[in-house]
Amino acid sequence: MIQSITSMKNAFDLSGKNALVTGGNRGLGLGIATAMAQSGANIAVFCRDSGKAKEAIAELKPNGGRYESFSCDVTDMKSVRKAVAEAYNAFSNFDILVNNAGISCFNELLNMDEELTDWYNVLNTDLNGTVHMTYEVGKRMRDAGKGGSIINITSNAAFIVNKTQPMSPYSTSKAAANHFTRCMAVEMGKYNIRVNGIAPGFTNSELSKFIPESEMAYIINQMPAARFGEPIEVGAMAVYLAAPASAQVTGTVMVIDGGYMLSC
Ligand SMILES: NC(=O)c1ccc[n+]([C@@H]2O[C@H](COP(=O)([O-])OP(=O)(O)OC[C@H]3O[C@@H](n4cnc5c(N)ncnc54)[C@H](OP(=O)(O)O)[C@@H]3O)[C@@H](O)[C@H]2O)c1
Repeated sequence: MIQSITSMKNAFDLSGKNALVTGGNRGLGLGIATAMAQSGANIAVFCRDSGKAKEAIAELKPNGGRYESFSCDVTDMKSVRKAVAEAYNAFSNFDILVNNAGISCFNELLNMDEELTDWYNVLNTDLNGTVHMTYEVGKRMRDAGKGGSIINITSNAAFIVNKTQPMSPYSTSKAAANHFTRCMAVEMGKYNIRVNGIAPGFTNSELSKFIPESEMAYIINQMPAARFGEPIEVGAMAVYLAAPASAQVTGTVMVIDGGYMLSC
């Protein structure tokens, strides 16, 4: 059983905790890594682009903790196994896993090539990547017996059919990741591991740069908050889900989308 907080003192404190963030070298992942580092956590960044990883580690350094990057392709189980083993050698244990790595594609199913390349690329990253990482890290969290918090970054596209761009592989994998989150919360509760999701809406990053100017105005008009989100705001929600403040929260998916879905 995970102990309840008794006061708000230190309720959001991650001091001494080790967090593994996939795709932590840029965008939302870097926002999450930054928010957690500023809340006291040490961070392991998993990604493929080692140049961007070095830049991210340099950006995290002034926060005063321990920050390292590990080369990992989340679609490839062998790569995941190797990187997770290396990260555990370096950090001994992880209290927090953030499955953030993700890609999108804008294509209608009937326009895809015969191999359905777009379909499989997105599902292999956004859904299977999350499963691969949860398997490798979840087993170690269970065996360490110290509990943990797993946070899956999904999307509000899991709940709606986005009319601005066709993205069925993305929406489908994010919807499946939401339900995977709920299944894992039930399976892992007995190990004191909480599993939750965050479903962001449009947030400033490399991924959202692909949205044509003409659609930006439409999207912003649909949002009560009237602006795109920032990676650090998703990070703040991830800190909550990792911290003692959320000890009673598991199996939930929290939406952070400036209210975009309300008009859909
Ligand atoms: N931006 C938005 O508006 C928005 C909205 C809703 C949800 N999200 C979700 O937020 C997450 C981050 O998106 P973002 O906007 O920050 O995108 P981004 O700027 O394009 O970053 C994607 C991250 O995922 C990593 N990645 C991609 N494929 C990978 C693989 N096979 N193995 C390991 N790492 C991989 C990338 O690192 P490398 O390329 O170095 O591997 C990069 O760090 C995604 O899951 C996305 O679906 C974003």
